Amino acid sequence: MGHNAIVGQSGGPTTVINSSLAGVFSVCKRLGAKTVYGMRHGVQGLLKEDVIDLDGTLRTHADVELLQRTPAMLLGSCRYKLPDAAKEPAVYERLFDILRKYDIGYFFYIGGNDSMDTILKLSDYAAGSDIRFVGVPKTIDNDLCVTDHTPGYGSAAKYIGTTVRELVRDSTIYDLKSVTVVEIMGRNAGWLTAAAALAEDEDCEGAAMICLPEVAFDPEDFVARVGALQSRTPSIVVAVSEGIRVADGRYVAELSDALSVDPFGHKNLTGTARYLCSLLAHRLGTKTRAVELSTLQRCAAHLSSLTDIEEAYRCGGAAAQAAFDGQTGVMIALRRVSDNPYLCVTEPMDIHGIANLEKTVPLDWIDAENYRIRAPFLDYALPLIKGEPSQTYVRGMPEHLTL
Ligand code: F6P
Repeated sequence: MGHNAIVGQSGGPTTVINSSLAGVFSVCKRLGAKTVYGMRHGVQGLLKEDVIDLDGTLRTHADVELLQRTPAMLLGSCRYKLPDAAKEPAVYERLFDILRKYDIGYFFYIGGNDSMDTILKLSDYAAGSDIRFVGVPKTIDNDLCVTDHTPGYGSAAKYIGTTVRELVRDSTIYDLKSVTVVEIMGRNAGWLTAAAALAEDEDCEGAAMICLPEVAFDPEDFVARVGALQSRTPSIVVAVSEGIRVADGRYVAELSDALSVDPFGHKNLTGTARYLCSLLAHRLGTKTRAVELSTLQRCAAHLSSLTDIEEAYRCGGAAAQAAFDGQTGVMIALRRVSDNPYLCVTEPMDIHGIANLEKTVPLDWIDAENYRIRAPFLDYALPLIKGEPSQTYVRGMPEHLTL
């Protein structure tokens, strides 16, 4: 079998996806991989043979540590859907020719539910070959099935909770009526938006309303509720998911503008907060501000969770171990074995129960009538945001590793 390993990153970034790359690299080297290659821009780059030798970039332990604290994706990403092997066999023949050329025995892909489709298709196609295909979970959306949570979520949740808290402070400075609508990513799962609830404690009232995509959004009820809240507290902050939909299934984001679509058929959701702000200004005559957290929530490495960085590294390492143990067609999942003290273990799980599926927030964690999040969510999320990594600075700016 092949002596080398190859690893790619795919989908949207997180602040800890590079920590998973560090885990795959370090453990592959420890287990005896001759060379660890990186695909530039995932499988799309691999098809163009855009491959680098990671041994040349990660020369020292300090390089690997710096990589763990570097946001975005060292190798670059893609949103590329592999065609069906039966319909376009040439794509697979090309990929496997390249893998043979580079003497690859171990193939790793770090990504979310769309990226796990790549592991599923390649491992199914390769049945009988001796190349092992293993997925490493990653997504700020936290919507992968089977795993307790996904690396990347804890850091994004910490950023969202912190930012909402800071926005609540800011929103109360003037003695006038205002609504700050904060738009949070997550497509059809409300895990990230629910993290707005982390802002609340005895010194902070937190977000006055939290709207998740798991619950149909009623614009009339929303306006009435904001109006009622403002009669008691003039300045409020409202957290909304980019993926909230009205009863007929249309995204709020598409009520005013048509949205573009990616190769997996996902609409590019943006504009929810802007739409709601103009609705509120028009109907209630209030000052409004739309805050779209956008890509900040997935690249704010200065607010990463140390727990998240460490778990991302462990998932990468566990993937390498699983591949060297002979496993293929699996993704590493996190299983929570204890809440107090918090403890998760890693385990390889069949990719067929993961790829292309979405896990949403349990409905009994959502108080839909009052636009609130219930306590079990806090018990679930609080351990994931714990700890702060040490950061090195150059000229006062955070230091990052680049190619
Ligand atoms: O896949 C994660 C994610 O961050 C989603 O929450 C968001 O809807 C999407 O990516 C945005 O994708 P892009 O970076 O392609 O605009």
